[in-house]
Amino acid sequence: MTGKFIVLEGGDAVGKSTQGKEMAARLRERGYEVVETFEPGATHFGARLRELLMGDVPMSPLAEALLMAADRADHVATVIKPALIRGAWVVSDRFLPSSLVYQGVGRALGLETVSEINKSAVDGLVPDLVVVLDLDSQDARGRRDLDSDRFETAGDEFAAQVVVAYRDLAPSMGWKIVDASGSPEEVSSSLWGLVVESLSP
Ligand SMILES: Nc1ncnc2c1ncn2[C@@H]1O[C@H](COP(=O)(O)OP(=O)(O)OP(=O)(O)O)[C@@H](O)[C@H]1O
Ligand SMILES: [Mg+2]
Repeated sequence: MTGKFIVLEGGDAVGKSTQGKEMAARLRERGYEVVETFEPGATHFGARLRELLMGDVPMSPLAEALLMAADRADHVATVIKPALIRGAWVVSDRFLPSSLVYQGVGRALGLETVSEINKSAVDGLVPDLVVVLDLDSQDARGRRDLDSDRFETAGDEFAAQVVVAYRDLAPSMGWKIVDASGSPEEVSSSLWGLVVESLSP
């Protein structure tokens, strides 16, 4: 595969979508084909799963993890891998790290169970760069739109746990952490610094 795969991670409303757009624009300026994508729900099948995952129908943590992995399997097979193979850069708003944090830690399934479930879903694909946008959950709440999904309504304690889990796991997982508390311009310049340093676009 000749393209590069960049993943933006972090809790809700930390600025992943904002930064994904900005990063894609900077890469396009350098002449790359860029595919901006996200999880869950980027494919037609995934969009149906997203309705269930973000809706208000309760489900067991294991069922939630399996649906996330099903979405990821379709995403990898039909969007991410084909793009990388033709040489495009892929910038994804969330990937496997989100499942490790939200389902593994947040829903307490454990990292091993979640890794196991996702093994065939990712089909050997490892991101070239994972960046966690780090922002305290109270600050993120101030940025959030009013309509909330099933994860956002899981409460302040859940949101705080997610932030801590990203911080705890980052060193051993090789995820880079960027302080997301500054202005969008400040965050995107730190983020771009990391991309240049790690992937020399
Ligand atoms: N650095 C920033 N400072 C202040 N506000 C910001 C910053 N970055 C993004 N925002 C605003 O915060 C809100 C959430 O940003 P964004 O949608 O990019 O986050 P997200 O991580 O993709 O959120 P979600 O988890 O809901 O998809 C938006 O209204 C956005 O305009
Ligand atoms: Mg977003």
